[in-house]
Amino acid sequence: MLRLANGREIPVLGAGTWMVENEDAVQVVKDALEVGYRHIDTAASYGNEEGVGRGIRESGVPREEIYLTTKLRHNVKDYDLAVAEIDASFERLGVDFIDLMLIHSPQPWDKFRDTEERFFEENLAAWKALEEAYKAGRIGAIGVSNFAQDDLENIINNATVPPMVNQVLAHITNVPTDVIEYCQSKGIVVEAYSPIAHGAILKHDAAVKMAEKYDVSPAQLSLKYVLQLGLVALPKSTKKAHMQSNLELDFVISDEDMAVLNELPLIESYGDDEYMPVFSTFYEDRE
Ligand SMILES: NC(=O)c1ccc[n+]([C@@H]2O[C@H](COP(=O)([O-])OP(=O)(O)OC[C@H]3O[C@@H](n4cnc5c(N)ncnc54)[C@H](OP(=O)(O)O)[C@@H]3O)[C@@H](O)[C@H]2O)c1
Repeated sequence: MLRLANGREIPVLGAGTWMVENEDAVQVVKDALEVGYRHIDTAASYGNEEGVGRGIRESGVPREEIYLTTKLRHNVKDYDLAVAEIDASFERLGVDFIDLMLIHSPQPWDKFRDTEERFFEENLAAWKALEEAYKAGRIGAIGVSNFAQDDLENIINNATVPPMVNQVLAHITNVPTDVIEYCQSKGIVVEAYSPIAHGAILKHDAAVKMAEKYDVSPAQLSLKYVLQLGLVALPKSTKKAHMQSNLELDFVISDEDMAVLNELPLIESYGDDEYMPVFSTFYEDRE
């Protein structure tokens, strides 16, 4: 567990659900809870909140034992819309409490990292809606995702509640050290999304070789790596055996090997392009 700035605890391993269809999410969530996950990560933009909520109810695991995260739809940059979208997430999930809700992206997805436009006012408007739901006790913690330091400063300097979490892309070969250090200096917990690099770590020669040395799988090595950086890890798997082994992380990567992993050159491509074309169109399909 890690402790958030407001004192609440968050489990350091969460089951991701990106690109899991709504109807499949029920079983994926039930499997994840059955093998031992107590933290589920979804988003309005994934189009599967309803299935995730159903999976939680059908699992038989008491709701209060599960840490549930969702995210405001990536293009919600307006107060009234954010208020409505927060309500819609509660409705789709079928819950009366959300543990953590994030602004999914500082820019709408089609402009992400592709524009000078920073949406500072718009993010503050969406944040105000999250703050109100947090202060009303409907949401246990509020945070952001994909935020750079200036996006974070905008909220920290102008809002009444600072972000408690920043969920960012982080995996072996691609760790945003500056933003992580900034967050940690401000007491913001950082979550690593795509910690297995969408699966690319499984075929990464140096990672595979190091995993063999520890007698673990490359997936286990990649998860332990981000945990040892002090991050929450959010792996995604649709296979129960993978979900299970991703929880078995009872080993320690030595300081020397952490240094070796830190120096590996960036994975430029995620392989067979299974993800990248989908990455840009996935959200549009669901609006
Ligand atoms: N905030 C954001 O903008 C954002 C963006 C992207 C992702 N996320 C979150 O982060 C989560 C994870 O990211 P991700 O889905 O991009 O990728 P990931 O967890 O880095 O990798 C997923 C891939 O790894 C495979 N895999 C997982 N465990 C394995 C194992 N033990 N052995 C072999 N293969 C394994 C999965 O295949 P199998 O299904 O076959 O196991 C899948 O193909 C998402 O689901 C989502 O919740 C957030």
